[in-house]
Amino acid sequence: METRILKVKVDYSNIQVLGHWKEESAEHKDGSKTKTSNLNTWEVPTTSEHEDILSPIREVAHHLRTTDIPVAFPTETVYGLGADATRSAAVKGIYAAKGRPSDNPLIVHVCDLSMLRSLISPSFSSAGDEEDPIPAIYHPLITRFWPGPLTILLPNPSPSLLAPEVTAGLPTFGCRMPASALARSLIKLANAPLAAPSANASTKPSPTAAQHVLDDLRGRIALILDGGSCSVGVESTVVDGLCSPPVVLRPGGVSLEEIRECKGWEGVEKAYKDQAEVGGKTAPRAPGMKYKHYSPKARVVLYEAEGGRREVPRTDVREAVEAAGEEEGKGNVKSVAIIRTGRWPVAGGLRSQGLDDVAAKDSGDVAETGFAVREGQWLDEDGTTVLARLLEINLGNDVKGVAHGLFAALRELDRRGADVIFVEGVSDGDDIAAAVMNRLRKAASDIRI
Ligand code: TXA
Ligand code: MG
Repeated sequence: METRILKVKVDYSNIQVLGHWKEESAEHKDGSKTKTSNLNTWEVPTTSEHEDILSPIREVAHHLRTTDIPVAFPTETVYGLGADATRSAAVKGIYAAKGRPSDNPLIVHVCDLSMLRSLISPSFSSAGDEEDPIPAIYHPLITRFWPGPLTILLPNPSPSLLAPEVTAGLPTFGCRMPASALARSLIKLANAPLAAPSANASTKPSPTAAQHVLDDLRGRIALILDGGSCSVGVESTVVDGLCSPPVVLRPGGVSLEEIRECKGWEGVEKAYKDQAEVGGKTAPRAPGMKYKHYSPKARVVLYEAEGGRREVPRTDVREAVEAAGEEEGKGNVKSVAIIRTGRWPVAGGLRSQGLDDVAAKDSGDVAETGFAVREGQWLDEDGTTVLARLLEINLGNDVKGVAHGLFAALRELDRRGADVIFVEGVSDGDDIAAAVMNRLRKAASDIRI
């Protein structure tokens, strides 16, 4: 199967071309009316003078309606691999393309609240004075974070419009309304909620650019809708408000501290375990003892921020280079990569040469991913011998920037042939750093203090 990338020529200046919220008039007690735009109905123009922008979205939507092959599309978090969530054959196509086990439930993406209400209560009519089928516990979250990177769990009715493959047999379904107008317009034109996991091959880092999807799924899907790089860069936060106290199941783009500020969510608890807690604080995790996720080909060694290291330990790098040499046979030069996030100096403190030269050449990367890649050599202490090829990426000390560039950095270092990647961890409070460290701990073969 040929895989095509369809570019949507949209940016901040012309984003409104993609669609708009329908205005509704609200009647007040004194009889006056005001126009409000709530999240009830997302509309896409049927014809537009900007067909050049809309036509790729129309083509992908048509493909979703008429075939069982999933499509990749951008959201503000990561690229999703979407299919009509109401058709079993289409949803099965997602599992087939990703090589993902089908016991994992998928997130359902809606374009507006009308679509969501029809899923919770197929007979619901907004014209009547029926109670809102969306559980009240979620109203403050929806008001504050939707459209955006937050997934909520809802009761799946019986009978349900959703294909059983979406929920993997659970009595609930996860749902979100993406902030990306492009994603919402695609859902609207497909005229169906879209089930969509991240559009990576199973075990790989999630894709935050169309090229990442192509690298993983070329030949397995027909269409990739390209909307540029994803602004958030890590997946949505998943919460369950149907239990008491409510819980966060997966840290993501919306932080725990923001959720806690919402009415009814003051006592929200974490229901996910981080490897740092599981493995104990001092025991380094043995390589190979994990379920692979978010992993590049290169081995990832992560340093927890609480260790307070000011640089990468030279002996660790030396050992890793020797180990890589033994695995692949001696003689060829090994490639060591460093990902910095604020405290570590250039090259993680390793003695190096040549790094700056490549930085200039690669400055074109900065626009899309927010970072430059540098390439040079690692030298021994007296500066006479080259010990390995050296790659480095500085994601900066702003944790939102780290989240934005993280998956792209892991993929970029793979593409450049890194054997091992040493990552400077960030300190994970209740902000988006929790999502960054959650993904990094899953990607890492070794977690060190
Ligand atoms: O940002 C995102 O959420 C991205 C983009 C494409 O929207 N999607 C994504 O989907 O990350 P996926 O399939 O990779 O992750 C789905 C997560 C899993 O952790 C799954 O366990 C949880 O959501 N989930 C979905 N439905 C659930 C349910 N009914 N009960 C519990 N967990 C559920
Ligand atoms: Mg995923």
